[in-house]
Amino acid sequence: MELKETIEKRRAYKALIPIEVTDELINDLAKHAQLAPSCFNNQPWRYVFIHGKENLEKFYPALTGGNAWAQKASMIVAVFSKQEFDCIIKDKIYFLFDTGMATAFLILRATDLGLVAHPMAGFNEDIAKEILNIPPDMKLIAIIGIGKHNEDFEDVLEENQIEHERNRPIRMNLNEFIYHNRYEKTS
Ligand SMILES: Cc1cc2nc3c(=O)[nH]c(=O)nc-3n(C[C@H](O)[C@H](O)[C@H](O)COP(=O)(O)O)c2cc1C
Repeated sequence: MELKETIEKRRAYKALIPIEVTDELINDLAKHAQLAPSCFNNQPWRYVFIHGKENLEKFYPALTGGNAWAQKASMIVAVFSKQEFDCIIKDKIYFLFDTGMATAFLILRATDLGLVAHPMAGFNEDIAKEILNIPPDMKLIAIIGIGKHNEDFEDVLEENQIEHERNRPIRMNLNEFIYHNRYEKTS
């Protein structure tokens, strides 16, 4: 798939069907995250790949109610880091930025492989860190549900989820977030 097509194809779908999770898949995703740029090449990102029925089920108590759909994911990736892993330049703290870039690479690679990689903020951080043995001084930034898209999503999703599955949520117009040469306050 061309990069343009991969970016256009990526969607945060909720209706998932199982995939086979292999070490090859995990390493493939990780190797794409690994190539992301980072401040001073600090590579602040850390990932726990949660897979296998028993491990996934152990993690479900960390999901918020609105993310119950993620119980259909064949793998959940926990994205974590801490600010000391990356540049702090005066008041600019880069670990979230760099971990976000690496995670975008991972998500796009999953898309490229025909998979869904759906990022989520809806989890209980304390419970999740306890389950995953992530130390308290780390920030659990996001989790990502991985699977394959269920094209028959209307049979499995709730009414309020179907529109999001059918159509990509509306984006801002370019003129709402880009500026030429100089920022101009618009509203
Ligand atoms: C940091 C982050 C947190 C998100 N949290 C959730 C979440 O908890 N549950 C959910 O269903 N989707 C979540 N999403 C997915 C967004 O709702 C989705 O990306 C957005 O609506 C745009 O849709 P699209 O990705 O299909 O284009 C999250 C996305 C990001 C990047």
